[in-house]
Amino acid sequence: MSSFGTGCSGLPPFRPALTPLFAFILAVSAFAPAPAAAIELTVYCNPSQLGALQGVIADWEESTGNSVRLLTAHDSSSEVLGLYRKLLEDGNRDIDIYNVDQAWTAMVAPHLVDLRTYMAGLEKLHLPGVIDNYTIHGRLVAMPQFVDAGVMFYRKDLLDKYNLPLPFTWSRLVECANTVVAAERATGDSDIWGLAFQGDRYEGLTCCALEWIYAHGGGTIVAGDGAVTINNPDAVAALGMAADWVGTLSPPEVLAMNEEASRKFFQDGRAVFLRNWPYVWPYLQAGDSPVRGKVGVMPVPKGTPNGPSPSVSGGWALAVSKHSRHRETAADLVFYLTGPLGQKKFCLTDNHIPSVTSLFFDPEIRRAIPMAVQEFFTATVARPVRQTGGKYDRVTTAFYETVHDILAKRVTPEDGVVKLEAALNRLRQDGWN
Ligand code: GLC
Repeated sequence: MSSFGTGCSGLPPFRPALTPLFAFILAVSAFAPAPAAAIELTVYCNPSQLGALQGVIADWEESTGNSVRLLTAHDSSSEVLGLYRKLLEDGNRDIDIYNVDQAWTAMVAPHLVDLRTYMAGLEKLHLPGVIDNYTIHGRLVAMPQFVDAGVMFYRKDLLDKYNLPLPFTWSRLVECANTVVAAERATGDSDIWGLAFQGDRYEGLTCCALEWIYAHGGGTIVAGDGAVTINNPDAVAALGMAADWVGTLSPPEVLAMNEEASRKFFQDGRAVFLRNWPYVWPYLQAGDSPVRGKVGVMPVPKGTPNGPSPSVSGGWALAVSKHSRHRETAADLVFYLTGPLGQKKFCLTDNHIPSVTSLFFDPEIRRAIPMAVQEFFTATVARPVRQTGGKYDRVTTAFYETVHDILAKRVTPEDGVVKLEAALNRLRQDGWN
């Protein structure tokens, strides 16, 4: 738990303004009466975002005289979801704001306020596709803090050393990694592997496996119209390919790796490639990082050179609980944190990709976050969140459990997808929502 800064109550309410649209909206909203007394808000957040959030929240506290208590819990997205659902379903009145993963916004949506009620128009500052992801049955239930997309980090020094071109397809990546690993092991580095990724049984594995499957033409587990599509030869081939990696291209411990474990493995110089999210970049470039200056970043490989980009979209957002006693003040904080000023500071601190469109052209963002290229974050693949609605958690759990079993060779890819298809169709029986 973290509680800090009571701020300076003599100052007027915080009113950030950048673009004309934003300035107009804020000018209109300035007629709203200032809160009579300082309010303490409680924000529940993912631990990895704590530091960056604290910095931005401190600005808001100072400007408004209100204060914020920051709470954190588990590290993995799946565990955080379990906790949030319990708090929201119990009608917990102490938590005002939750930071939510894009993947499960639909599941907690009934407990969240429609943020357009508090300040319609601010959403126009963000990438439209991202706002769509947080609009459930016409209600804008969260505002994006940043967008994520899967990316592939690679050891530029090692590819250069062996004169290897960047591999833009999975088969080329496997070839390239095997060449480097064989050569490096021959020189005595027996500790090096080809690829690290998120192979533990959790949401991160869903993202990785969807990228393999989609790249090879195997679809998105459940199609846009709700049909279960996972049982197909392309999906089987993609999962078979990944199962072959465990213990050969990837270390056996990949089956227990989340984002941070795989990041550390790569950062220690133990893998040629790392599939992860953009936040990893500054860690790799830190002063004490063994791979500082030796790393490059490229898109997640395709199945064929002209195939679609399989990079899975992700990201986090801030939502106000319906059960909060301070909904209006909480919405004000959310708008500040996700607006141009707050989002810029947050993204620069934590190296995230902004969703505020103007920030893609901001020179500081472009310098600090080399991956902040707008096109890249609009051509992504969505998890089947929208089509499976309130059941997405069960869909993803069944999916990553099956994929984990396949990777651990407890089941063949063929049998795995047959059972998964049956389980998903049972879930679908009385509709997805
Ligand atoms: C990242 C993504 C999020 C995804 C999670 C999986 O945090 O932003 O959308 O669900 O990783 O571990």
